[in-house]
Amino acid sequence: MAGEAECSYEGFYQFRCRTNEQETLVRFFQEHGNETGFQSAQSFISIGAGDGHLDSELIRNSLPELASYTGIECGHQMYGHLCATLQRRHDERRDSLSTLDVRLVNSTVGEYPGPDGPVDVVFMMHLLYYFGDERCSVIQKAMDWLKPRGRLVIGVVNKGNILQKLANVGKTNLVSWVEKIATNLQTLGLGYTEYEVVHEFRPAGCDRRFAEFVLRRAPVIDAEADEIFNFLPTQYEPGTTHIKHGTHVFVIQKEKCR
Ligand SMILES: C[S@@+](CC[C@H](N)C(=O)[O-])C[C@H]1O[C@@H](n2cnc3c(N)ncnc32)[C@H](O)[C@@H]1O
Repeated sequence: MAGEAECSYEGFYQFRCRTNEQETLVRFFQEHGNETGFQSAQSFISIGAGDGHLDSELIRNSLPELASYTGIECGHQMYGHLCATLQRRHDERRDSLSTLDVRLVNSTVGEYPGPDGPVDVVFMMHLLYYFGDERCSVIQKAMDWLKPRGRLVIGVVNKGNILQKLANVGKTNLVSWVEKIATNLQTLGLGYTEYEVVHEFRPAGCDRRFAEFVLRRAPVIDAEADEIFNFLPTQYEPGTTHIKHGTHVFVIQKEKCR
């Protein structure tokens, strides 16, 4: 199981600041609490939790019954930010984090032995880009951690996403992440429902750190940085345009156990 490539914290920070993805995802999981299992989830594992900002907002706003949260993050710098984010929220003592059982793990999903018991939701937001053919084994592993009727929730960039376009620069094979994940789920025989969450880039736009962050999504990207910058001016007007982009969310419900 690969996927050990550490994500650039700085680039990810730029991405978060330059889009309204976090707000729209929080709202999406509030509005679709039943279908995604968020409304009633008591236990939740986030694989590739990043700096913890999205997860802590979800805990506060979209997971009303949550009692236990586990965040798995392989990057050392990211893991430091994850700990700081959740600790800061805990210290504020004005939200549900103050009573939550929080476990943070600095390891790859491949090295993580699994939770003590089955959980309600396993969450993989923008994680699967880091894996090649072994994506199926990551998905299967996550399914094994779920309770009967638990949900695996997978988020990837949608087809029109600027990140998808950047990822495809210099490539002839333009299979989108949505298609790749759908194929993986079908190969595994897993049924799913799909949703689109639409975001916007803020007018501040894109910069070099952001593009480098996209480039470092090993093993997906093989374009050179200069190719990205040759591509950007025709698609993107920093400071002027709200570019629509979005996240495609797959929800897979585990079958009831025999
Ligand atoms: C793009 S970030 C997304 C963070 C967060 N889920 C979000 O959406 O805000 C993906 C994270 O997955 C982590 N990651 C990559 N491969 C991993 C692996 N094999 N095990 C655990 N984390 C991994 C990266 O270090 C990175 O922080």
